[in-house]
Amino acid sequence: MSTVVLDSVTKVYPGGHLAVDRMSLRAEEGELLVLLGPSGCGKSTLLRMIAGLEEITAGDLYLDGKHANDLAPRDRDVAMVFQNGALYPHRTVRGNISFPLEIAKADPNMVRERVVELSRALHIDETLDRRPGTLSGGQRQRVAMGRAIVRQPSLFLMDEPLSNLDAGMRTELRMEISSLVRALGVTTIYVTHDQVEALTLADRIAIMNRGVLQDVGTPGQIYNDPATAFVAAFLSSQQLNLLSAAVRTPQNQYISLDFGLHHITMPWTDPRAYAVSQHTGSQIIVGIRPDGLTPVPDGTEGPHFTGRVRALEYHGHEWLAYLEVGIPAVAAPEPTPSTVNGHANGNGHAAHGTPSRVRTMMRRFISGGDNVHPAEETTPTPGSGHHRRADIIVRLGSRPVWRAGEVGHVAVDLSRLMLFTAQGNRIDPPRR
Ligand SMILES: Nc1ncnc2c1ncn2[C@@H]1O[C@H](COP(=O)(O)OP(=O)(O)OP(=O)(O)O)[C@@H](O)[C@H]1O
Ligand SMILES: [Mg+2]
Repeated sequence: MSTVVLDSVTKVYPGGHLAVDRMSLRAEEGELLVLLGPSGCGKSTLLRMIAGLEEITAGDLYLDGKHANDLAPRDRDVAMVFQNGALYPHRTVRGNISFPLEIAKADPNMVRERVVELSRALHIDETLDRRPGTLSGGQRQRVAMGRAIVRQPSLFLMDEPLSNLDAGMRTELRMEISSLVRALGVTTIYVTHDQVEALTLADRIAIMNRGVLQDVGTPGQIYNDPATAFVAAFLSSQQLNLLSAAVRTPQNQYISLDFGLHHITMPWTDPRAYAVSQHTGSQIIVGIRPDGLTPVPDGTEGPHFTGRVRALEYHGHEWLAYLEVGIPAVAAPEPTPSTVNGHANGNGHAAHGTPSRVRTMMRRFISGGDNVHPAEETTPTPGSGHHRRADIIVRLGSRPVWRAGEVGHVAVDLSRLMLFTAQGNRIDPPRR
């Protein structure tokens, strides 16, 4: 068992590409820490630096409390599994798994026992005498995992080990990885760009964008209480509703989030009221997940939006509705070098930018799905004068309670509103 501490670790590749920017992070003993982020954000680079396969440009790495920047990979007691863990084709499954122990000249009886035990845990005990060429992709990944973990390393690093498998196999193996590493108690850092994998597997998730740590916490913490608009959008399985609002505090009696045609009143008793009031007179970004909105009958009291139902979408287990509410759409904050590379603050939260996947997602939402608005080529800020209207996405459950074209009303769950500055950082600090 082992702890991993990254202290302001930075990687600049030859040629000057900044792949990891001052990452500070700690993996606790026995923890399953998931590194999550879009393609190219630096996850593999970070994992390879921990394994000793990539040189650390600046900052410090500590393994089990010992400074490890210059430690040779073989002295780190680390095992790593990659996306397509290459196996020895001429060895049987048994021979592949036992190989690291044979090299270490372990007692053959112990090796035999250990291989059988591990193959049972990985559900490949029936394949022990077969060669890798005769196995399915999922079975091969299990063998690769068995071979990596057979030495009982202090630290287990996995780089997207399931991404080549089909959906069913991914789900199955995901559960097995989770129970295996927990049963062994080995500290594990698991890299993925799949938010479902991260949410279901992790003890804690560290989410990165463009080499910068955005947020770290338990799945519940970062899903319900994300540090940035990027994190909120990245973790939403459905599109996150992002709306621009002006903050007003009429006669200091209450806080009004002014969406143009609509406004929502936040009482001073709301725990976020003081933080939001600091933005009086400014535009902020309000994030609402589709499940924070509930269709209600006309005339219902309390915070709500009203609009025309533009479209309904059937998703098998539920219906989604697109409600045209006449609210100015927000343009996602574009990254600028100073914010993208901004150093994480004390909580590990950083000023940040928004990756292209999320930008595209937001654009689709902003432009109503078809035409790209010219303003998107520039760097608009929320409320900077373009008044396209937003569709907000509402979950209807298994029955479409609305018809396209009719007027719909949705109650807004105030406690589910996520409030961000125009740059996309949380207005009220996340509770960690
Ligand atoms: N050897 C290298 N030389 C130069 N640049 C590199 C090298 N390896 C990676 N990069 C760049 O560093 C950035 C981070 O790459 P990395 O492989 O760590 O991303 P990732 O988060 O693992 O992405 P993915 O999810 O696609 O695997 C990318 O922009 C990549 O192009
Ligand atoms: Mg990678």
